[in-house]
Order: sequence, then C-alpha cells, then structure tokens
Amino acid sequence: MKLPYAEPYRIKMVEPIFQSTIEQRKAWIKEADYNLFNLKSDQVYIDLLTDSGTGAMSDRQWAEIMLGDESYAGSRSFLKLDKAVKDITGYKYFIPTHQGRAAENVLFSATVKEGDIIPGNSHFDTTKGHIEFRKGKAVDCTIAEAFDTDLYHPFKGNIDLDKLKKVLSENPIEKIPFIIITVTCNTAGGQPVSMENIKAVSALCKSYNVPVYFDAARYAENCYFIKVREEAYKDVSIKDIAKEMFSYGDGMTMSSKKDGLVNMGGIIALNDEPTYRTAITFNIMYEGFITYGGMSGRDMGALAVGLYEALDYDYLASRVTQVQYLGEKMAEFGVPVQKPIGGHAVYLDANKFVPTIPKEEYRAQSLAIELYIVAGIRGVEIGTILADRDPETRENRYPELELVRLAIPRRTYTHNHMEYIAAALHEIYISRHEAKNGYNILWEAPIMRHFTVKLEKIQS
Ligand code: F0G
Repeated sequence: MKLPYAEPYRIKMVEPIFQSTIEQRKAWIKEADYNLFNLKSDQVYIDLLTDSGTGAMSDRQWAEIMLGDESYAGSRSFLKLDKAVKDITGYKYFIPTHQGRAAENVLFSATVKEGDIIPGNSHFDTTKGHIEFRKGKAVDCTIAEAFDTDLYHPFKGNIDLDKLKKVLSENPIEKIPFIIITVTCNTAGGQPVSMENIKAVSALCKSYNVPVYFDAARYAENCYFIKVREEAYKDVSIKDIAKEMFSYGDGMTMSSKKDGLVNMGGIIALNDEPTYRTAITFNIMYEGFITYGGMSGRDMGALAVGLYEALDYDYLASRVTQVQYLGEKMAEFGVPVQKPIGGHAVYLDANKFVPTIPKEEYRAQSLAIELYIVAGIRGVEIGTILADRDPETRENRYPELELVRLAIPRRTYTHNHMEYIAAALHEIYISRHEAKNGYNILWEAPIMRHFTVKLEKIQS
C-alpha cells in the first residue's frame, strides 16, 4: 500500500496569524488603495504574496545563527557557505550578495553593455530590469506551449531551440554576452526546464561560444521535476542532478530566499576567472567585502545548511506535493489554473475566471482583491498592471497571460491552510458571473507601477 505523503518535519515554534471579518477587509483594502502590497501583514490571514524569504528555517539553521562569525573578512561562516556553494554547483568561484537582484546587478555590471542581447526563458522582472537598465535587450525564447494554460507539457519552462538559434545566428556574437536559463521559470508559472533541453541549449551555445548562466532561484525544485518527470533521472539523487545541470552552464545567480531556505541572501557562482575578477570589484562597491557581500555571518551559516536541506528528496517531495495538492484541488472545482501546477505556486487564469470583467479594468487584480476580501488570502497580480505601459505609446500592454499567483512559502503553512485556500476559491468561482466591474488606476509610477499603484473600484 502506498501511504499518503506527509511532511518530513514537525513544528517546534508557531507564529500566530490573525483572522478578520469581511467588513474589516473591505475597509482595509480600500485604505490600501486596492493595492495588496499596501496591506499590513497583520491584515492578512494567509500570505501567498511570495515564496521569497517567507519560509521557515530548521533547528539546524537556527543553530548556525548562534554560530555566526561576524568577522569582516574571511569569517568561518563565509568559508562554510563557500564550501557548500562550490560543492553543489561545481563552479570555481563564489561571490555572496544580499539577494538575487543584487547578484544580477553585480554580474551584469561585469558583463552587459549597451546594445547587448540576452536570450532566455521568460526572464524574471528584476533580471529583465537589470538588462534593460544597461540598455540591453532580453529576448524571450520560451516554448509556445508555456502560454496555453490548459495544455499539459511536463517542461513548460523549456527554451525553444529554433527561437534561440535564430537569435544566435542573426546577431553579431559579441553582442550576446550570455544566455540565461531560469530554473524553474517563475514568469511562465513556476514551470521546470528539462535536463534534455538544458543539455541541448548548452551544446548550441557552445557552438557559438556563448556562455550559459542559470538563474537558480528555484533550482532544487527544478531538479526534483527532472527526477520525477525525466525517465533517465529517476534513480539519480537530487544533488547529482543539480551537479549535472550546473555542469552544462558557466555560472549562476541565485536568490537564496527561495531554494536557499533562508529569509535573505544571494549567490553568484561562476567558472571564468576574468569575469570573477571584474565582478568582485562591483561587489565591493555595491554589496560589501567579497567574504560577506551584504549578508551577516549568521545568515551565511544558515544558508550553507539551507542549501543542503533544499536538496533533500523528502523535503522536495512534500514541498512540491503541497503545491500540487492545492492546484489540483482547485482544478477539480473547475477553477482555471495554469497546468501542470508549478513548483512554488498555483497560478489562476483570470481571463478564464472572470471574463465578465472588461480587460481594461484589470481582471487579475480584481480577482486578487476579491480573494483577499472573501478569505483574507493575499496573492499577487501577474497581469496587465505588472506588464506596465508600452514605453513609446504609453498604452497598456496586455500580456498573453493574465494571472493571479498564489505562491506557497516553504515549510510554513499546513494541509488545512491548503484546504481553506481551495475552498475560498471554490466559493468565488461559483459566483464568478456576478463579477462585472473591475478597477481604474488613480495614480501610477512611470515604471514598475504594480508595487505602488493606486486604484479605485468602478461602481456600476
Ligand atoms: N530570479 C527569479 C526567478 C526570481 O523569482 C526572483 C525573485 C529574483 C530573481 C530576484 O531575487 O527577490 O532575491 O532579489 N522573485 C520574488 C518573487 C521576488 O516573488 O517571485 P530577489
């Protein structure tokens, strides 16, 4: 008999969270200008805004906090982390940074120039931001299947080799400093990239002499999907899968707030010595000395432990199973979600959920607000508000997918919380036809508007 999955840990410390009434939430979200980022965390019951830096550390990680060595240079905590990063990635050089976008800032300062082109699989916002800030261009080469939420494909994060080949062959190669593979692909719905695809991308890039970097924020979850969905890897350990995956690239940046199982931290690891030498100068300018890069010693110690815990099969199985359980439960109720369910989040397809709201009135944001009002659950819009306006025409850009992301923090919420979330969405789904009006923008910033936008409800 196959027993059901259960968490491979028990809970030693609890943090109270607060329930509230619908009336209270209606008032709070209005006060927050209908922007979920403006809510106080105590006004939220289940917080699914992000899985970044919101997970629970283990007893062993907390023990490392007490052992932290806060020496400015050459601390024991740094040496522990340096050893772990090199052991797991196989790369020669390691640079610590305070979070993922800081790793991008440092590495791209050393590698990206005006007019450069960086192909990849749906670059994350900050990755794209750091490329565009340097007047480079991020070219999306994700497979077309990723944009059909109903279509099952085991590796929707894959790169389309024809699209990539076109970019490589039609541009001067000195304009392409590297390509970036994001594992798992957050923007495409937490979807994994197969080892087969990584291998093929790597071989193609080698033939053009273009380095391959990973955005490894959720690399352990990607390795888990390779193990369970790619036949050749079913008997390979997650750690060996990770080693092999990194061997097809030249380096990586990582937000360790995800698969590092810590609340703050970032990593650059790479093989090329000249790039490393240039990057460490930027690290000293932007982040801190090369043996701490914006992290305290205790945080580096906790990260060294977290990196290994995240490679544990039982941990990953329970993590991914929890997310899948939530997504599949919602799908059973008919709620339209991106399929298959991603590694760290369930994505609601707002175009299918609330087609009764005009798209000019921000369907995904309207749905996210409704979920907050009905159940105190905070998700995040990944749709038109996030997509910003066209820089030239200033018209709204309507992205192919209009989503609400419900990101599940690691080791934080229980099975009952998943039941509660699914039930809340079921209830909203049943009365979805009543949703007619969305929101107007009252004020927005010229770029990255979704963090600070102010909205008003359209009254019928
Ligand atoms: N790359 C990916 C794939 C990410 O998902 C993120 C952050 C970053 C880079 C940047 O890392 O936040 O440590 O600076 N994603 C968070 C999210 C914010 O909610 O998905 P960071």
